[in-house]
Amino acid sequence: MRTVLPEDLEDLSGFWRTIDGIGLGKGDDPESLLRFIRRNPTTCFLIRDEGQVVGSVLGGFDGRRGYVYHLAVCPEKRRQGLGRMLMDTVCRELEKQGAHKIHLFVLNDNLDVVGFYRRLGWKERTDIQVMSSDRNLITQD
Ligand SMILES: CC(C)(COP(=O)(O)OP(=O)(O)OC[C@H]1O[C@@H](n2cnc3c(N)ncnc32)[C@H](O)[C@@H]1OP(=O)(O)O)[C@@H](O)C(=O)NCCC(=O)NCCS
Repeated sequence: MRTVLPEDLEDLSGFWRTIDGIGLGKGDDPESLLRFIRRNPTTCFLIRDEGQVVGSVLGGFDGRRGYVYHLAVCPEKRRQGLGRMLMDTVCRELEKQGAHKIHLFVLNDNLDVVGFYRRLGWKERTDIQVMSSDRNLITQD
C-alpha cells in the first residue's frame, strides 16, 4: 500500500468504474481528483498487485472533520483483510492531521457494506440528515 500519486489517477478511475457501490460524480474528473490528492497528499492510498489496482481509499481533512471516499477492494481480493487495512491506515493518517471525527457516506442501494463498517466499529447516525447543494456557486458575468 502507498499513497496515491498523480500518475495513478487514470488507473484508479478505471478501477472505480468496475466496482459496484462506488458512486462516481462531480469530483471524479481528472482535474478534481488531482486537486483532491494535492490537498490531501498523505491520506489517499492504493494497493496494486502485479501492477493492477486492487484496492483504494481517499481521505480528506477539511480542518475540522475527516471524510473517507471511494473505499474499494476488487471482488477477487475481498475478505482477506485489505479493506480493514485501508480503513485503519486512512483513519490513522486523518487523525494525525487533527481529525477527531471522521465521516463517510454509504449509498442507499449499497447497504450491504454497512456490516463491514459495523465490524470495524463505525456507528450509523440516525440523528443527521445529509443535505447537499450542487449550485454553481461561482457566478460568471
Ligand atoms: C467494503 C469492502 C472494501 C470490504 O473489503 P474487504 O477487503 O472484503 O474487507 P476485510 O476483508 O478487511 O473485512 C474486514 C471485516 O469485515 C467483514 N466484512 C467484510 N465485508 C463485509 C460485509 N459486506 N458485511 C459484513 N461484514 C463484512 C470481514 O469478514 C472482516 O471480518 P473479521 O474482522 O471478523 O475477519 C469491499 O467489500 C468493497 O470493495 N465493496 C464494494 C465497494 C464499496 O461498497 N465500498 C464502500 C463504499 S461506502
